[in-house]
Formats: sequence, C-alpha cells, structure tokens
Amino acid sequence: MRSYIAVAAIAALAQAQDLDWDAVLQATPAPEVTIPVVYATAPATTVTATTVSYSSEAAAASVSSALVANPDDSFPLDSAIAKRAAATTCQTQPTGVSVGPQPTNDAVVNDDSVSAFSAYPSFSASAASAAAPSAVPSGYVNTFSNLHASNNAYGYMGYTLLKSYDQQGCADKCTKINGCQSFNIYYERDPTVNPDDSSCSNPKSLTQIKCVFWSGPVTTDNANNAGQWRNQFQVVIAGSNGYVNKSIATPDGYNAGVFLDKSAINAPLDCTGDDSFIGSRLLTNSVFDANLCAVACNEQASYARQHPPTDGSFNKICSFFNTYILYKNGQALQQNCALYDQTWSMSYAKNNGYSYGQDHYTVGFSYTFSNKTDGGKPRYACDVASAKSAIVSASLQPYCSALLGFSSAASTQTITVTPTVQATTLTTLAVQQQKRAASTPAALQKYPASAITSGCALAASSVTVLTETATAAATTVYIATSTVSQK
Ligand SMILES: *[C@@H]1O[C@H](CO)[C@@H](O)[C@H](O)[C@H]1NC(C)=O
Ligand SMILES: *[C@@H]1O[C@H](CO)[C@@H](O)[C@H](O)[C@H]1NC(C)=O
Repeated sequence: MRSYIAVAAIAALAQAQDLDWDAVLQATPAPEVTIPVVYATAPATTVTATTVSYSSEAAAASVSSALVANPDDSFPLDSAIAKRAAATTCQTQPTGVSVGPQPTNDAVVNDDSVSAFSAYPSFSASAASAAAPSAVPSGYVNTFSNLHASNNAYGYMGYTLLKSYDQQGCADKCTKINGCQSFNIYYERDPTVNPDDSSCSNPKSLTQIKCVFWSGPVTTDNANNAGQWRNQFQVVIAGSNGYVNKSIATPDGYNAGVFLDKSAINAPLDCTGDDSFIGSRLLTNSVFDANLCAVACNEQASYARQHPPTDGSFNKICSFFNTYILYKNGQALQQNCALYDQTWSMSYAKNNGYSYGQDHYTVGFSYTFSNKTDGGKPRYACDVASAKSAIVSASLQPYCSALLGFSSAASTQTITVTPTVQATTLTTLAVQQQKRAASTPAALQKYPASAITSGCALAASSVTVLTETATAAATTVYIATSTVSQK
C-alpha cells in the first residue's frame, strides 16, 4: 500500500496528466551501476565480460499478470539486476587480457598520474575518430564523444572489456544482446591491484577499455559518472563515446514508434470535451522495453471491453501510448507508460518535465505507439461536436426539435446519430429529416447534414443521459432519454 504524501504539493502538479505522483515520489532511482573490474579473489577463469539476460516475453508475462490482478492501478515492478562485487585484500587485477595504452607524455615516460591519463592525446584521438560519421556503426547514432565520464543510463545490460577502442565490435555485441539499445565505450584508469588495504592503497594504474551496454539511451545528460575513489586510488575516465540504436522494436499490432526525444505528450481535451488520458503505468529498475507498455495498453483495452461502464459514461479503450524514461535530477528513475484512448501527434509533445521542490524530473527517450488497426477517436466526430456547440450557442434547439421530429416535451427518443460521415443510411435519414425542417439556420450551414442531425441529437434537449449501444452492424446508436426543451 502506498502511504499518503504531500497532497498539497502534488496538487501543484495536477496538470501533469501522465504521471502518478503518488508512485513517482516513492520511486527510488535505479541503483548506480559500478562496473569496476574487481577481482576479490584470484579468478579461476578470467572474466572480461558479463551480460544481463533479458526476455521481453517473460517481462511481458509478469506485467500482464500484475495488471490482471489489478488492472486499474499504476504499479511499480522491480527487477534489480546490477549487483556489486565484494572485494578482499590487494588482489592482483587482470592486465594481460585487455590492457589499453599506458599513458605517457613527452616529459615523463609512463607518467602514471591522473592528470596525464586525463589529458592523454591518444585517447581523445581515438574517441574523435570513432565519432566521425563514417566510423559510426551502421544503425547507430553517436550521441557524444570524448567525455571524461561514463553513463548512468537506464537498464544496465552488462559490459565487456576490449583489446582496442573498437566501437564496431562493441556495437556488434550490443546487437546480439536482447534488449540492448545503446552502448558506451571509454578508457578507464584502473588499479593494478585491488586497493583495499593500507599496504596497497594507491597502486600503479593500468588502462582498461570498456564497452557497457544499456537498454535506455546513453546521452550527455546521463554521462555523469566521472570515476570514483577506491581508497587512495583515483579511477577516472577518458575518451568516452556514446552510441544509440536508431530504431526501437515495434510491439505487435502497433505502428512504428514516433520519436519524441525529451518531451512527452500533453494531450488537451478532445473536440468532444473528453479527456483521452487513461492512466499511467510505471516500470521501475527494469529494462527499457516499449513492449511492456503495449502489454499494459492491451490489458487495459481488453479489461475495459469486458467491463463497460454501467453509468452510461464513455468506455475508454487504450489504443495509443507514450513511453519514456523519467529522470530525477539526471538519474534514470523509471520507464513510464501513459495510456490514451486516441492517438496524438508529435505536435502535442509539449511536456518536457517538472520541478518538484528542489528536484527536477525530466523526460528522455520518449516514443509514441498507436494501434495499427484502430488508433482511437473521439466519442463522436469533431464536426458533430462543433455543430452541437454552434446549436447551443445560437440557441437553435427549437430548430433541432423540428428537424428530429420531437413533438412534445417529456419524450424519450431513440435517435440514431452518425458518429462518422460514412454511415450512408444515417446520412439519408438526416437529409430526409432536414427536408421536413425549416431551412438550415445560418450558423449551421457550414456543416454537413449528417453532422447537423447528430449535433441536434446531442443538443436539442438538455440531454441528461446519452447511452451508446453498438448494433450488430457496428453502427453507434445514441439513445437520448431526456426532456426536449421547446423554447
Ligand atoms: C536496433 O534495434 C532494432 C529493434 O530492436 C533491431 O531490430 C536492430 O537490429 C538494432 N540495430 C542494430 C544495428 O543493432
Ligand atoms: C487494436 O485495436 C483493435 C480494435 O479495437 C483491437 O481488436 C486490437 O486488439 C488492438 N490491437 C492491439 C495490439 O491491442
């Protein structure tokens, strides 16, 4: 159960339609992943790589069952994956397998200082040449080059040590890892022995070339790990480059994702005045995987279809979602899925994040996906909604009553309106009825007959209940049970 938090403060964020702040404020950022090559004991075999295995199907199944248990709730899912290795005393660290160039400078051969490492020209030269357009592995974009920091991105997927600064080799490995979307390659100044004792507190250095895999993007913003102190020894980084796969896997049944980068959808009410936002689902400490949001959207849709509202309100069925990584002060917090019952274009991607007290929440790696067969639409057509407003604002209800053939007050009428213009029988009905009515008022002349009829059905009376029933022919029938006001 969630505890009750700072309601007044949350209210200030009420316009943040796509976040469940109750859950967001309790989420802790994904633990920082430390990827030192630490051998606490002499390794039986030299481990120079680890990968985190990820099965989208298994994760999807767990999201699905969580939602089946609690379909309307946001939920955090945890699957902590990065664990820190334990260390013991002055263990010799691997050198032979994958030592990079030792820093030198002109004045002192083999200068072992931190500053010499950081400024070593050969490191920056390799990083720069690996960022040249022709050197960027195919299918990837280079997101930054030659930084003195590695990434704390979302969804750690393992690392490997390289024998040379080989961005293509690193890319090839990423491609083979399920869920790997980006990688970071860099030089790291590491100790020759584990500096965990006063007898070896600041040993000589060696250079490793690391390639680290992530399921979220590596960006300048999350390249915020400038190294660390290990006892008196300073681990630092140089020549750090980032690469992100240009394409993201498309969940089954959806159109290819639309990349919104650092903004999320902030949908207005639709033309009928309805809020198309359904809710958000939060996925924490997991692997970034758009398919998990698709599962959440599909589950919501199937639950909603099986449990239509009984109070006559509109049944919202998920057909579109926006997924992104939410960062708290630059640190990846969670993958968010914002679910909607209709599709919004990238022109509505106006939400770049939030401030909450001293904390800054920002959006990254944002994508939208729309159901391929039905992207959703407003409850009725926008021209109907517009005709209805015109009728109400020009007080044309008497005209509508005549048009629709309402004879007296206090009647219950079943009116078939045309939710889309292609319902030809309904258009015919509209035309016939319009002939009987007085000539079309000026305020309505710009609308097609079908929109006027439908708009009238919605506005002719002070419609109190408007129920929707689907007929066998999949035509929507609105039943207006109300009093027709004859002004
Ligand atoms: C990028 O990701 C897509 C979707 O997962 C995948 O099909 C493709 O192979 C990846 N590209 C590269 C170069 O790894
Ligand atoms: C897309 O929408 C159609 C029509 O509502 C639905 O039958 C289908 O299950 C949806 N597809 C997915 C992947 O949810």
